[in-house]
Amino acid sequence: MTQILDGKRVGDEIRNEVAAEIAALTGDRRRPPGLAVVLVGEDPASQVYVASKGKAATIAGMTERTLRLSAAATPGEVRRTIEELNADSEVDGILVQLPLPESLPERELLLAIDPDKDVDGLHPMNVGRLWSGEPGFVPCTPFGILELLERSGVELIGRHAVIVGRSRLVGKPMAGLLLAEHCTVTMCHSRTADLPGECRRADILMAAIGRPAFFGPEHVREGAVVVDVGINRLDDADEVQRLFADSPKKLRAFARRGSVLVGDVDYPKVAPIAGAITPVPGGVGPLTVTMLLANTLLAYKRREGME
Ligand code: GUN
Repeated sequence: MTQILDGKRVGDEIRNEVAAEIAALTGDRRRPPGLAVVLVGEDPASQVYVASKGKAATIAGMTERTLRLSAAATPGEVRRTIEELNADSEVDGILVQLPLPESLPERELLLAIDPDKDVDGLHPMNVGRLWSGEPGFVPCTPFGILELLERSGVELIGRHAVIVGRSRLVGKPMAGLLLAEHCTVTMCHSRTADLPGECRRADILMAAIGRPAFFGPEHVREGAVVVDVGINRLDDADEVQRLFADSPKKLRAFARRGSVLVGDVDYPKVAPIAGAITPVPGGVGPLTVTMLLANTLLAYKRREGME
């Protein structure tokens, strides 16, 4: 039987742990942890993400502030907002939602975030800390995947992990984390020769390229653990019918909403071969916001000298 790696369950578990810790802190008359989110422009997907981050922080008992700047904001205006948050003693975590409008210098603005408040783990200081084995902040999605694997009983030591996708939010930090957990790590990407062959060598396969249902049975060795990081919205009826002909639940969801969420993995074909697999939705997705809460609590504890 294939084990389903349930990100919703693990995410709820971690959120409850974070909320319980915060309740104990505020019960001791300490201030709650504070998260600040900077949103520049009106990108609809970013608005949805930011709203769910703010809501989750509030439910967990944190203070949360979303600073909305117009798409026409100058680099100086965004930088000043970040610097004010750096200086604000009640803000523990700062997240600048990406992508920024093209007119803004992303790298320079991420550099402006205080590394000790960088709960997204994107500041070069935190990238360096991860790769040199020092305490820092790790991007939320790979951090969440690691929690999901560990809390689901997936053995990591000595296993061969193949990561497909080299983004700085997922693929690269995932490699650093798995190395630290004593995996043997192979990184693959769009220029890899014989991608299916590399993937079939994996005990643990991480699919993170953002292409709907790209990974099929030819990429997966029998019994492998498959982690699907893709979240792709499919609205092409023929494509949905082709991929999910035998999945009435997905077809009903498509008939209702006109689109369905699909991972990078062809789930109906791969799940029967895999030893364990994350579904989409309900796998990796719920853990990203959860780990933002965990990182913000960690930032708070470090800043308060509790860690
Ligand atoms: N946009 C999409 N995912 C993320 C994320 O994890 N962090 C930030 N800052 N922006 C994002």
